[in-house]
Amino acid sequence: MEKPVLLVTRRLPPAVEARAARDFQARLNSEDRPIAGNELPRLATGAAAILAAPTDRLDAPALAALPESVRVIGTFSVGFDHIDCAAAKARGIAVCNTPEVLSVATAELAMLLILAAARRAGEGERLVRTARWSGWTPTQLLGIGVSGRRLGILGMGRIGRELTRIARGFEMEIHYHDIARLPPEREQGAIFHADDRSFLAASEILSLHAPGGAGTRHWLNAERIALLPKGAVIANAARGTLVDDAALISALRSGHVAAAGLDVYEGEPRVHPGYLELENVVLLPHLGSATLATRDAMGFLALDGIAALLNGTSPPNRVV
Ligand code: DGY
Repeated sequence: MEKPVLLVTRRLPPAVEARAARDFQARLNSEDRPIAGNELPRLATGAAAILAAPTDRLDAPALAALPESVRVIGTFSVGFDHIDCAAAKARGIAVCNTPEVLSVATAELAMLLILAAARRAGEGERLVRTARWSGWTPTQLLGIGVSGRRLGILGMGRIGRELTRIARGFEMEIHYHDIARLPPEREQGAIFHADDRSFLAASEILSLHAPGGAGTRHWLNAERIALLPKGAVIANAARGTLVDDAALISALRSGHVAAAGLDVYEGEPRVHPGYLELENVVLLPHLGSATLATRDAMGFLALDGIAALLNGTSPPNRVV
């Protein structure tokens, strides 16, 4: 039987591209040439499936323009806020993603952001790199220790729970806020707050792990930032849309927020210029899941999901 055609929108790790070529008539983008939204229908002509990425905007008009042949979209990401799932469903397109396999890598990155922001690693690195460091002094770049502090986790999904496990090694007291309380055996002793006011008041360090999308857009706004303890540290390895950038920049300027570590941005790769002027923010280029082993696992999971959906079975990583 002829293998189904799979359009792959981005360059993927070699092992994933090899597997795609083994199992499908894969149209790879090994040059990683940017694909404009209006090119997608032509490139997908005759394709049964698309292996997309968070950089592809699959809103209702983009989905409506796809050829009838496209029955499945797999996204090379756990987040699927770049896909209009209701429109995909209405159009009869099944969607799958890459949960679980990136939770540890993303939680590690969140801990890196927390440590780097709290201990002023970005400022220190810039000092050394620009040859402005004149030697050790007793008062240079004094930061905030994280051990034993209260860590607030917004969104206690898989990544939040991995961060809880890591933060336990720093003897942090974990508080969390989510739409529902976890069963006690999954809480690992973390303290649930149904109310975001008490959650924010407890969060000396706040790490965001909620999904993106309209429902959480600008969750961290000026009012909520004001509820954090003075001198709080914020990390975001989830989605840039969770944060009202102007409000966070203002709080970083005033010192109400001592430092922030950001890996994701609203409208990325554009970064709000206000952040670039601030020393007390550490900025990374969306590296949450960026280890080779993790990216391989994400690719294999997405390909497995696509194959299952094309075969008419419903894999655990199906989202629509
Ligand atoms: C995801 O998976 O949603 C990340 O943002 C990309 O690793």
